[in-house]
Amino acid sequence: MAKIAVIVGSVRECSYNRALGRLAIGALESHGASVTDVDLGDYDLPLYSAKLEAETFPEEARRLKALFMAQDGLLFVSPEYNGSVSPLLKNAIDWASRPSGDESAVALSAYRGKVTALMAASVSPFGGLRGLMHLRQILSTVQTLVIPDQLLVPNAHMAFDEGGNLKDALPASLVDVVAARLVTVARSLA
Ligand SMILES: Cc1cc2nc3c(=O)[nH]c(=O)nc-3n(C[C@H](O)[C@H](O)[C@H](O)COP(=O)(O)O)c2cc1C
Repeated sequence: MAKIAVIVGSVRECSYNRALGRLAIGALESHGASVTDVDLGDYDLPLYSAKLEAETFPEEARRLKALFMAQDGLLFVSPEYNGSVSPLLKNAIDWASRPSGDESAVALSAYRGKVTALMAASVSPFGGLRGLMHLRQILSTVQTLVIPDQLLVPNAHMAFDEGGNLKDALPASLVDVVAARLVTVARSLA
């Protein structure tokens, strides 16, 4: 069974990306994945600094990194902040990219050999596209295979119905498309 973690780049109450993450979890499970829902609010991660890291590798960063290491695939669902990735998510990705224990500086053990996929919800009509372009580049840099399929939900404040489902058929169908592709690739790489 493919193990997939879903990481949402917002801890805002009523976050649209959290709502999208919930839909993605359902779709991943329907395709047979074992899903871990990662709430970054559960990780008290300091802002990365090399000075801090030289003193100690934070236990919370070690915990998040271990969770990533145990997965076959990672799905990132992120808002766009000023045309890029939310700092909350970038900080988490950076900490999990750092070597711990006896690893070499380029071990990237949380990422190497894993498949990743991207989704975004944004209040803008562009759906967070610029943020996902940066996120794609970051996840390639840390040696993951980023699948081409991705989902953008524009006008997120109007996109969900009261039950938390997407109103429009196209983005709703793409949740399933991205989830299915992620599970398929994760299985074949595992
Ligand atoms: C600092 C900041 C910068 C933002 N920049 C963008 C942006 O560049 N593009 C965009 O579509 N939305 C931008 N937004 C609006 C977010 O899309 C909006 O806050 C969204 O609801 C965040 O996702 P969430 O609902 O999952 O928390 C920005 C919000 C903040 C706080």
